[in-house]
Amino acid sequence: MMKTLQEAAEYIRQQTSQFQPDFGIVLGTGLGALVQDIDTAFSLDYADIPNFPVSTVESHSGKLIFGELGGRKVVVMQGRFHYYEGYTMEQVVFPIRVMKLLGIQKLFVSNAAGGLHPDFNTSDLMVITDHINLLPSNPLIGKNLEDLGPRFPDMSEPYSDHLVQQALEISAAHGLHVRTGVYASAPGPMLETKAEYHFIRTIGADAVGMSTVPEVIAAVHMDLPVFAVSVITDLCVPGKIKKVVLLDILEAAAKAEPNMTLLITELIKRQE
Ligand code: HPA
Repeated sequence: MMKTLQEAAEYIRQQTSQFQPDFGIVLGTGLGALVQDIDTAFSLDYADIPNFPVSTVESHSGKLIFGELGGRKVVVMQGRFHYYEGYTMEQVVFPIRVMKLLGIQKLFVSNAAGGLHPDFNTSDLMVITDHINLLPSNPLIGKNLEDLGPRFPDMSEPYSDHLVQQALEISAAHGLHVRTGVYASAPGPMLETKAEYHFIRTIGADAVGMSTVPEVIAAVHMDLPVFAVSVITDLCVPGKIKKVVLLDILEAAAKAEPNMTLLITELIKRQE
C-alpha cells in the first residue's frame, strides 16, 4: 500500500516539476467552479496517475489541479471517489493520502448534502463541526499503515476547531450566512427514505450526504487538520421533502458555489 502511494506521489512530483502544495482541497458535486479562481500551474488527469482510481460519475471531471489560490500553493481534487461507485475504502481515500505525501499541511473539503436541520434552506452553507459514519466500513479497517498514523486515532476533534472559528469570523466579515452542524455519511447511491431521514436526524445529524467521512478519517489518521463545508442542496425535513433529481442538486450547489469559494479562499489566505 505505501509503495502504491509513493509511486503515485513520485509520478506527480515529476510531472509538476516538484510543485509543493501547502493545502489540499476536495471539491464536491456541482462545486467544481472554484478551479476557475486558481492560477493553474499543472493539471493531471486521474487516469494518468499510477494507482489512482478513475472517476465514474459524470458530474465529476477527475483532475488533480496544482496552482495558487489566494496567493497560496494548493492541490485541488476536481472530482472525488465515492463508496457507492464500488471503490474500496482504500481507493476512496487514496488521493488524500497521496496529497499528504506531497506535503499538504491542511485539508479543505466540500460536499453537497441534504439538510436535516429544520431551519436550513437550500443553498445554505453548513460548516461541519463533527460527523457520524453510517457507511458500512471505514478506510482504517485492516492492517494499520504505521507510516501514516496510529492504530487507534483520536476522533475527539476531526474538524479543526480553530479552522471552524476562522471560517465563522470570515463569514461574519463578508456577510455570509453560514450554519454549523453535524454531517452524516450514508452509503447511497439512492437518496434516503423519509423514515431514514427521520432516523438520521434523530441520531444527531444536521445534514446527510454520501462522501467526506472516509476522507476525513484518513486525514485525521495522518494528523492532518481538516476543514469541511456542506452545501445544502435539498431539504430532508418532514413536510419539505420533495422528489429530487441530480439536476436540482447541481442547481442548488451552483447557487451556493460563489459563497463556498469565497469562504475557502479567504480561509486559505489566512493560514500560516
Ligand atoms: N441525501 C439526501 N440529499 C442529498 C444527499 C444525500 O445523500 N446528497 C445531496 N443531497
